[in-house]
Amino acid sequence: MYYPEEIIEEIRQKNDIVDVISGYVRMQKKGASYFGLCPFHNEKTSSFSVSPHKQMYYCFGCGAGGNVFTFIMNYENYSFSEAVKMLADRAGVPLPELEYNEEMKKKESRRSALLEINKEAAKYFFYQLRDKHGQAGYEYLKKRQLKEETIKSFGLGYSNKTSNDLYLYLKNKGYSDELLKAAGLVSFSEKIGMCDKFWNRVMFPIQDINHRVIGFGGRVMGDGEPKYLNSPETEIFDKSRNLYGLNFARTSRKGNMILCEGYMDVIALHQAGFQQAVASLGTAFTSGQANLLRRYTEQVLLSYDSDGAGTKAALRAIGILKEVGLTGKVINLEPYKDPDEFIKNLGKEAFEKRMDEAENSFFFELRILQRDYDLTDPEGKTKFHNEIAKRLCSFTEEVERENYIEAVAERYHIGFENLRKLVYSHAARTGLVKEQVRPKSGIQSRERKEDSGMKAQKLLFTWLIEEPKAYPIVKKYIVTSDFTREIYVKVAERLFSQLEEGTMNPAGIISMFTDEAEQREVADLFNTKLEAVETEQDKEKAFRDIIIRVKEYSYEYHLARMGSDVTALDKVIAGKRALEELKKAHISLK
Ligand code: UTP
Ligand code: MN
Repeated sequence: MYYPEEIIEEIRQKNDIVDVISGYVRMQKKGASYFGLCPFHNEKTSSFSVSPHKQMYYCFGCGAGGNVFTFIMNYENYSFSEAVKMLADRAGVPLPELEYNEEMKKKESRRSALLEINKEAAKYFFYQLRDKHGQAGYEYLKKRQLKEETIKSFGLGYSNKTSNDLYLYLKNKGYSDELLKAAGLVSFSEKIGMCDKFWNRVMFPIQDINHRVIGFGGRVMGDGEPKYLNSPETEIFDKSRNLYGLNFARTSRKGNMILCEGYMDVIALHQAGFQQAVASLGTAFTSGQANLLRRYTEQVLLSYDSDGAGTKAALRAIGILKEVGLTGKVINLEPYKDPDEFIKNLGKEAFEKRMDEAENSFFFELRILQRDYDLTDPEGKTKFHNEIAKRLCSFTEEVERENYIEAVAERYHIGFENLRKLVYSHAARTGLVKEQVRPKSGIQSRERKEDSGMKAQKLLFTWLIEEPKAYPIVKKYIVTSDFTREIYVKVAERLFSQLEEGTMNPAGIISMFTDEAEQREVADLFNTKLEAVETEQDKEKAFRDIIIRVKEYSYEYHLARMGSDVTALDKVIAGKRALEELKKAHISLK
């Protein structure tokens, strides 16, 4: 826990739950409680209730419930301490300084300075857009049919023609050259000295999920190269782990997310009422972003450009979504190029219709694939069918695979049995699909143990990333060799040593690995879903369970592999002792 309990309690008491939730949900008083539509699931009748007496909320539909902190954490996707900060602010309760060590303080203040600089820059650009210098920018946005309200909510702005006025403005506010460079907004050249990165462009601030500006995209007005210039990656701007528009999309609760290619697409979609639209940040869609989306939805609708490049990018994105377990569907935008153009020409109802008709991503892949084959030629047709069979092997679940074989057979007029045979002969040849063997109970339980052991290790990583303050407790019980996969041990070694120094850089850890699959795996370690807990007590219990499970599994694992190595025996004995001690210990997060 970060703050004394009395302060937490004071903040809670000063934030009346009805007051707070009224800011998010329209409610009506019925009896002693207030009722409204639940913001945490889709519903048409009000099953979400707030009790002023109990100062709690509960949804009879989906079971969401808690106190005012829970609500803010849930709705805003904040950590506990972020929710505490927000509500303290709201009620005017001063918070005590957190006890950071020197290193952490330095890092924190550097991060907040970089965020401040970006915010100042966004305000500056925003102001310039309304100034006479920015008239061209303003007219450009108007020409693109953006409403005043949209320009405001996305904080769009304009960077001047002069080469260093932002630099001078920020310098005047007291920021050092070094910090301004680190923020990615200025650069130094021998010829001109310090100069702005963006000039004469319409500016799109890029915000993180908490609406903090972390970078910019700047578009030329009209033709010119490059069309968009983007902030470089900085200490606060990780392009692979943020999405444009996600700050609004994550609370849109539409049951799906629309993934598009461009900033303008996102803005046009939001303006038309599709607040669930997001886009990657001037780079290709990454697995980090797919993991991010997975927190909010199970269904992603792809709305990529309908040209060749867009199709290729969509195919890539489908693969990435699949790897994190998301199903993608593809929205057909023909005859228009992108969602922005589509909406301008056909309007939002037509887009909605296209969303309903979005194509299953597997069929989309096949339809694109088909273009490479001449189906009027028997040889071409055979090759195409073989390729289909090969792709059908990628469904590892039998029921799903059978369903797809059936659907594909029907769609492409291939005999069901023929296609099925083709799939299984291909599978047998390549060993892609293994015959389903029912594991004997022994094996199964070992697998389950292994699963829970691995899961606990992942949870511990994610926990440390999200709450690095837990590290001192973790290190009392867990050593890096407790992790049971080589890659985990490597990650643990680096992460622990960073935490030892009071810093943390998950993105940096990922790039310790050069293999893409390994990188993805490490990213996954930092993104395990932590169980939602309501009280600090539950949280402590969850934390304790994770630590014990990691230690226990480490012991089992090393014991099973001890063999005849005598030095290993010492380790195992030490492990056993540590485990017993741990089970007796009181683990507190405070
Ligand atoms: P698009 O060219 O489709 O841009 O590139 P757009 O957002 O639809 O913009 P308009 O409608 O033409 O004005 C898609 C995305 O690719 C990145 C940007 O993130 C852009 O939004 N991009 C594109 C760049 O980063 N640099 C470029 O030069 C071009
Ligand atoms: Mn476009």
